[in-house]
Amino acid sequence: MIWTVLLLFAQAASSQTQIERGEALFFNQEKGCGGCHALKGKGTAVGPDLKAIGRLAPAAIAMAVHSSVTQYVEMVKTKEGDSFPGYTAGKEGDKLVIFDLSKNPPEKKVLAAADVTKSGNDKWQHPPAKAKIDAKDLADIVAYIRFAASGSRTAVDPADVQ
Ligand code: HEC
Repeated sequence: MIWTVLLLFAQAASSQTQIERGEALFFNQEKGCGGCHALKGKGTAVGPDLKAIGRLAPAAIAMAVHSSVTQYVEMVKTKEGDSFPGYTAGKEGDKLVIFDLSKNPPEKKVLAAADVTKSGNDKWQHPPAKAKIDAKDLADIVAYIRFAASGSRTAVDPADVQ
């Protein structure tokens, strides 16, 4: 009995540290997920909210992180002749809020819908699709995303995110 309790405690403790490691990596300057995604009130919401995807299995989340195919980013052309890869985050009044992903950090633009044209993205790549994250760090990051999305404390095995 005491062993079961100790074992459960040890498991809880080890998944806790994995979540903490993942959180540190997520908001780390270099990996920089938090520069574009907000979770638990921290970070900047430039890209999509990860709450929905964070409920999926670790392999599905990992695939989305490393995917070179984009679903939301578009090439945006403005009336003034600007052209940039942009993520449309929402609306302010009747204007569109678009993040210019060619800038680092991405730049928020508020533009009238009538002043922009959009076409398919053929330029921008998700940063972790270019600089792939090693499986151990990715497992920690995925554990943190799942925890932030749904409170899940289940440990994520690096073998499941490769
Ligand atoms: C420069 C900004 C930027 C950085 C840095 C960034 N992302 Fe993203 N992320 C985006 C954008 C924009 C999308 C939407 C891409 C698309 O069009 O499908 C996205 C998509 C995603 C998705 C898929 C979401 C969905 O619902 O389909 C996941 C998961 C994700 N990012 C996780 C991460 C993680 C983890 C990191 C850090 C290792 C990271 N991102 C770093 C901007 C960024």
